[in-house]
Amino acid sequence: MSESVGFPVSLLSLLRCTGDGGELAPPDGYGPNGIIHDGVTRCLSCGATFPIVDGVLDLLADSAPEDELSDHERQLRDTTMPMERGVPGWKPDWRDTAEFHTTLARLGDISGKTLLELGCGPGLYTHQLAQKVSAMIALDFSWKALRRNKANLPSSIPPGRVGYVRADVSTIKLCPRAFDVALTTLYSNLPTKEIRLACNSAVHEGLKPGGLYLVSTHHQDMRKRLRKYPVSGRYTEGGIYYINFTRKTLAQELTAFSQVTFCPAVVELPLVLRMPSFKFKEFMARATVGLPGFNEYGTILLAQATKSRASDVATDTGRRSAAVGAATATAATALLPLLDTLPM
Ligand SMILES: C[S@@+](CC[C@H](N)C(=O)[O-])C[C@H]1O[C@@H](n2cnc3c(N)ncnc32)[C@H](O)[C@@H]1O
Repeated sequence: MSESVGFPVSLLSLLRCTGDGGELAPPDGYGPNGIIHDGVTRCLSCGATFPIVDGVLDLLADSAPEDELSDHERQLRDTTMPMERGVPGWKPDWRDTAEFHTTLARLGDISGKTLLELGCGPGLYTHQLAQKVSAMIALDFSWKALRRNKANLPSSIPPGRVGYVRADVSTIKLCPRAFDVALTTLYSNLPTKEIRLACNSAVHEGLKPGGLYLVSTHHQDMRKRLRKYPVSGRYTEGGIYYINFTRKTLAQELTAFSQVTFCPAVVELPLVLRMPSFKFKEFMARATVGLPGFNEYGTILLAQATKSRASDVATDTGRRSAAVGAATATAATALLPLLDTLPM
């Protein structure tokens, strides 16, 4: 573990002022190794300042997310919400393990790449990704998440590789064409389409041509559709907001990207859920990921969205991909309900 991870000055150029999008100047007098533990960055065009506190660049500073539900989530994450995923001693269940492996597989080879992680939480993905990338930004709006994540970053990760940033994804601005890959695990917690589109637009701007945006959301899967579960709500009364997506509704929010492919993951087949073996459930959850129809029972929906290589203009490939997905879903809806009616 590494308690004293600072912010690498070399990674400041990946980010922009949340006000006017200007470049950020490093604080005066940072250490010779290029790592900042405490200081103040300044926007070169508007002069806005952002503190670096304990090695975390704080782009929210004294402000809070404007959206009420987002700020409510931030407060819960910083106080009462358990935050265990990925911290030492945490025991993943088969769903966590299936989600983790499928998500990493969909990111492809990230060796030597520059990566943006949105909603890094306490580090489930960060600590794994940091082993391979050449540089990454791990971003979250919760101090508790960032501190826990940073404190548990393996000491084998070279200083200068990971930059921790506290920010609200609805207001981030990134250096254009700076990142090869972006991963978000917070998408289903963003409470309005306007916020989600603002986040997608910032990511699109920050990705290199051909760059990959991997979006992990909750899936309005077959079981939820058959039982007519609401598409959005709170995890608990007064708790954190969530929204589930289908291929179609998610594609509608990713139209800026030239190609979008979908993968329902963490497949929970009714019969398999009754099996006692953790290993078997995990095996089936992963083995059925690529099986049309069966994967309608995936509780997670992953979208691989690629930024066009040619230009930044949207094409309709994403919409075509969504149409194919919707057709598969329709066929599955006709055939698979039988499975779901078996007693649990
Ligand atoms: C579902 S958790 C995922 C955490 C971690 N990546 C994992 O998979 O275990 C979502 C994370 O995103 C953060 N988050 C939610 N909305 C955010 C926003 N608008 N801006 C920045 N972070 C946000 C939360 O604080 C939380 O840590």
